[in-house]
Amino acid sequence: MSRTVEPASAVAGHIAVPGDKSISHRSVLVAAVAEGECRIRGFGRSADTQATVDAVRALGVPVDEDGDELVVRGAGLGGLRPPSRPIDCANSGTLMRLLAGLLAGNGGRFVLIGDASLSSRPMERIAEPLRRMGATVETTGGHAPLIIEGGPLHGITYELPVASAQVKSAILLAGLGADGPTSVLEPAPTRDHTELMLRAAGVRVARRGKRITLQPPGRLRLPALDVPGDVSSAAPFVAAASLLAGSELTIHDLGLNPTRTGLLDVLERMGARLNVLHRHRAGAEPAGDLEVTPAELVAARVTAAEVPRLVDELPLLALVAGMARGTTSIRGAAELRVKETDRVTAVVDALRPIGIHIEGLDDGFRIRGVPARPRGGAIVDSRGDHRIAMLGAVAGLVSREPVRIEGDEAVAVSFPGFFDLLEAVAQRT
Ligand code: S3P
Repeated sequence: MSRTVEPASAVAGHIAVPGDKSISHRSVLVAAVAEGECRIRGFGRSADTQATVDAVRALGVPVDEDGDELVVRGAGLGGLRPPSRPIDCANSGTLMRLLAGLLAGNGGRFVLIGDASLSSRPMERIAEPLRRMGATVETTGGHAPLIIEGGPLHGITYELPVASAQVKSAILLAGLGADGPTSVLEPAPTRDHTELMLRAAGVRVARRGKRITLQPPGRLRLPALDVPGDVSSAAPFVAAASLLAGSELTIHDLGLNPTRTGLLDVLERMGARLNVLHRHRAGAEPAGDLEVTPAELVAARVTAAEVPRLVDELPLLALVAGMARGTTSIRGAAELRVKETDRVTAVVDALRPIGIHIEGLDDGFRIRGVPARPRGGAIVDSRGDHRIAMLGAVAGLVSREPVRIEGDEAVAVSFPGFFDLLEAVAQRT
């Protein structure tokens, strides 16, 4: 399917975005191995997180759904039952990698499959450490399908070769049932939702510098969990409000975990006007309301140490940088090449035709900004990637001519109501 997004003069209003996708996946997976009921509020409904609900159901865990509230009746550690059919992880790398970690220490044979995009993404990065812990994990030439024979595991110390929260989380979840402590060292800080949630469930997880160490808990208890709004889903609105003169947008109850707010920090360095009100906690996570008003922006430099804190927002940052004064460089982001699509190529192919001066690099982008609306009037092909579809939509709002998005339905992977919300805040006077 395709749709056209017309230029807007501003975005304005008070909005909320769906619950954080990373936290939503984790809430269901952790609740599935906890003891007793877990009530999850603010669950982020999307195709990706539905795949996680369906996966734990297939493993024998009852889940009641009522809007954005879920009740999961946990099976306890080691209590997941091998299904007779493969478990379909759909488009979700987070589900496949975290579930592999959870199953590695659970008796039985499990087959994990995914869609064409997920089946092309690297899986040895989790298979290798899980094997070191004692699990049998077969990949298909380094990719899904995965075949896991779970069993008793040993604690290990593992230095991550790439800064990946998914790999870190897979190892920590496997460590829950291991015979001793498990440590992961990360080259740069990645999102720490798994650590915060496990701590809330009574697990001893400590960080010392780059090292995160988990002590096997015996049991987990997580009676309730609140999920704040997803800062990655808010990002398209933040970008549009920063770029469009006359905008005034407030995003309520937004997750503001510092391991996720790299885009906000980079935008502030570029001169953006962002203001956080009503700071509070949603479960173990920092949250608040974010006010965004437009500003004249200047170029920025983003390097490897910062990349994990905004990895999913780099496509949007490339567009913003294209409208900022000066040359922006984004480096140390080779991971973009192995996301739902090769996002370096997809972003360059999306932004060049609308008039952004962008060059793709092995590990990022160089963007020569022009502080004016780009021409627009082109087609952005999502390639089935939700973040590229949303990038095309923001490009449509901020350009001089409309932008058509091919494959707009991809937004349902993380944010099914995205276009409705975008049209609700877009001002076209
Ligand atoms: C995620 C981690 C990141 C991110 C993905 C979600 C997570 O992936 O890009 O969208 O929930 O842990 P990597 O761990 O591969 O960097």
